[in-house]
Amino acid sequence: MSEQTIDTMLLEERRYPPPPEFAAQANAQPDIYDRDFDEFWETEARERVTWFEPFTKLYEWEPPYAKWYLGGKLNVSYNCVDRHVEAGRGDKVAFHWEGEPEDDRREITYADLQREVARFANALKELGVRKGTPVAIYMGMVPELPVAMLACTRLGAPHTVVFGGFSADSLSGRMVDMQCEVLITQDEAWRRGSTVPLKQTADDAMADAPNVKTCVVLRRTGGDVPMQDGRDHWWHDVVEGAADECPPEPMDSEDLLFLMYTSGTTAKPKGVVHTTGGYLAGVAATHYHIFDLKRDTDVYWCAADIGWITGHSYIVYGPLCNGATSVIYEGTPDYPDKDRWWEIIERYGVTILYTAPTAIRSHMKWGPEYAERHDLSSLRLLGSVGEPINPEAWVWYRDHIGGDRTPVVDTWWQTETGMILITPLPGVTTLKPGSATKPFPTVAAAVFSESGEEVGPGGGGYLVLKRPWPAMLRGIFGDDARYRETYWSKYPDVYFAGDGARIDEDGDFWLLGRVDDVMNVSGHRISTIEVESALVDHKEVAEAAVCSRKDSTTGEAIVAYVTLKGGAEGSVEKLEELRNHVARKIGPIAKPANIVFTPELPKTRSGKIMRRLLRDVAEHRTLGDTTTLADPTVVEEIKTRAESDRSED
Ligand code: WT7
Repeated sequence: MSEQTIDTMLLEERRYPPPPEFAAQANAQPDIYDRDFDEFWETEARERVTWFEPFTKLYEWEPPYAKWYLGGKLNVSYNCVDRHVEAGRGDKVAFHWEGEPEDDRREITYADLQREVARFANALKELGVRKGTPVAIYMGMVPELPVAMLACTRLGAPHTVVFGGFSADSLSGRMVDMQCEVLITQDEAWRRGSTVPLKQTADDAMADAPNVKTCVVLRRTGGDVPMQDGRDHWWHDVVEGAADECPPEPMDSEDLLFLMYTSGTTAKPKGVVHTTGGYLAGVAATHYHIFDLKRDTDVYWCAADIGWITGHSYIVYGPLCNGATSVIYEGTPDYPDKDRWWEIIERYGVTILYTAPTAIRSHMKWGPEYAERHDLSSLRLLGSVGEPINPEAWVWYRDHIGGDRTPVVDTWWQTETGMILITPLPGVTTLKPGSATKPFPTVAAAVFSESGEEVGPGGGGYLVLKRPWPAMLRGIFGDDARYRETYWSKYPDVYFAGDGARIDEDGDFWLLGRVDDVMNVSGHRISTIEVESALVDHKEVAEAAVCSRKDSTTGEAIVAYVTLKGGAEGSVEKLEELRNHVARKIGPIAKPANIVFTPELPKTRSGKIMRRLLRDVAEHRTLGDTTTLADPTVVEEIKTRAESDRSED
């Protein structure tokens, strides 16, 4: 929580009230804030979700354990697909899919989706998948990814989708933790005109995850991949001849829907548990009110990857439950040129765009001329998620993409919260660039001081949630102690989010970033310790300390301080080798932007690495208090080395 962030916030005086025409037609009207907690979530669940058996109790709260919609039975794929077809909307487009290679496009209607989901579910059944069978999915942004997820939910098989940029180690770690029996992947993925070898990585991962007995492989690029007899099956072979109908399994509201692994303050990612009824009602309700979805006319595009929680909640489950028409794009925003996104918006007439500040800053850097080449007048609403958005990026987004016309909703939430919790409502809220504004109706967000006092308007501290919400995590898979410790030990019975926040005089929230050892690179959480462990895993590394510095595009960038074994000196080659080693261990997103080689790390007399000082060095600040260091000369040495690295590049 730097002073600077706070200053910027106080100087930010621009205000954007909702345009009257938008306000008049908005799904959420001002009285939404007056609705009663129980009434709100009972009504939302009945209006937006079809239940095979109605719930008998709204929720049960025995801190820190919540249950929602008790007694209710439902099926997620039925809600996301079949009921729209049954209601006569089978011809409506569910996904406009655009591949990265140009002219590679598909239109998938709800009827198409129903057929594909049923057939693939039948194929999985044939391969032994049953209610409760854990399935891993490791794919790029192809239409078969949501099909695979929905097929799992149809059978009641919990899934974990692993982002296609993660390494074999990251994939196997997750598959072992969840005890997955099946892995669904593809030959290769397209990325910026070249291919990413997903099946090859999956093979390496399966070598370390003997629990995986079956692998289904989608042919995407047609690249040559070895298939292991008895274990590996082509997607097109297993769906051939599979029936078009597959009855959806009635699931209990509290049955496990999926795990999403996320970084915390230790090296081992946490399997965040999401269950069925509360999650679906939570994402459908927020998607409807915050994005003001008009399902018959809107074309909605969340440009995140389905491999992260944003894609689960706001590409797949929320929008499909609401019967939306969405865009899915396979590739990068700058392929073949930097106007690819704007071309897509023009082509499909996208009306709602949801993306991350890091993407907005990339587009800012490239310049507004790329957006100016295209007609973006279909856009009526913009959204942002993943990290605090700086006011300049917010205003640029509204002006250059939103034509100085659209509201921008800055939505705060987490993998753990499952759904958006702090956000403007586009027809109600007066927007302030850089502020996520108000808690969503019924959400009891607050800011607490270190000692647990609630801080009023004008104050700052830690963001907490004082009441449960339907899509909240139900635990950490297989590690209850960690669940209690991470979220519920700082304050009794109150959820600790790990973010700093301030509330201004109007009661608007300003998020100030993480307060723990978790970095936020391009809107994704990476723990310092995870990267340190990957570095120390290299045979020549004796010790490593990792911190982040501010970066104008990725928000934060990773800086590593490394001591080599035997007092060896670093080199440019060694630096590249270590960066690649981290990419192999975790994934390219975790690659340090800089590595400083140093004979010693700054430690206290008890041996704790002082990351605070390393951050000072990384951000070229005057060093803070060094008196508790065992050897104060160490940090001066590091500083000199870091400075000389900089002068070289
Ligand atoms: C962390 C959660 C949930 C979607 C993507 C990230 C930061 C997220 C905002 C925002 C300020 C934000 C927080 C949070 N964050 N959205 N609108 N303003 N910060 O999910 O990987 O679980 O990361 O992202 O620090 O704790 P995640």
